[in-house]
Amino acid sequence: MDLITSKGSRKAIELREVWCRRGQRSVIQGVNFSVAGGETVALIGPSGGGKSTLLRCLNGLTEFASGEISVCGRRLLPNGKTPFADLRYVRTSLGMIFQDYRLFPHKSVLANVMEGPISVQGKTHDEARALAEGLIRRVGLADFAGQSPGSLSGGQQQRVAIARALAMKPTGLLCDEITAALDPQLKSEVLGLLAQLREEGLTILMVTHEIGFARKSADRIVLLDGGKIIEDGPPEKVLNHSESERTREFLQQVIG
Ligand SMILES: Nc1ncnc2c1ncn2[C@@H]1O[C@H](COP(=O)(O)OP(=O)(O)OP(=O)(O)O)[C@@H](O)[C@H]1O
Ligand SMILES: [Mg+2]
Repeated sequence: MDLITSKGSRKAIELREVWCRRGQRSVIQGVNFSVAGGETVALIGPSGGGKSTLLRCLNGLTEFASGEISVCGRRLLPNGKTPFADLRYVRTSLGMIFQDYRLFPHKSVLANVMEGPISVQGKTHDEARALAEGLIRRVGLADFAGQSPGSLSGGQQQRVAIARALAMKPTGLLCDEITAALDPQLKSEVLGLLAQLREEGLTILMVTHEIGFARKSADRIVLLDGGKIIEDGPPEKVLNHSESERTREFLQQVIG
């Protein structure tokens, strides 16, 4: 099956026959899947289906047992054998953002965004500061730069987390349910920012239950269940003309 989309021929992410074990169980079972540069893909599916595990495999947070993974042209190796330099390249190329923000609580918003460019990329304090200030403005938080994350709303904290990921100048983002903890208005702030980043050409692979956003803003929707991909196609096809009964059941539960 050719998964290359019209948006770009260069694959930003590619998995071939990937298996991953957690504890005694194979939670990713022979997954084949790719994301082209500039594409936005929504990864959906029931709880425990392996979505977070798949994302974590893509930046080396979780080891995979067998198969091939390449991210932005670098090969990841099974069983944690990827050389550190490649891991660092991959983690810089695709920033990962989580549901619970994972900001440094004792640092200011500004210091949170400056941290990566200084400690990972060796930028000077002044360079990092200029970059961080620009990004904090970009995500609409210029007035909050000196505050600690704990004094911000969830949506604001998540926008700081996005600014922090963008500070590494990634070509894409891996997002794991980044709006799941937010109320509807804050959700739409964060999703609006993601839609802008998509327009700017970032590659986005996002685990989400926001089917409305996926319908409107994703190039493809992929459904993972029991560690297997059971659907992969344009939103209209997956949501309105899904091939499997399992997909229809899942969508009915999520959409109601
Ligand atoms: N650290 C771990 N140790 C053992 N098993 C794990 C671990 N993390 C996840 N698993 C198992 O792997 C399977 C897939 O989990 P994963 O977190 O990837 O699912 P998910 O699709 O992200 O679910 P959710 O929608 O609830 O976030 C589950 O059966 C889970 O219990
Ligand atoms: Mg998960």
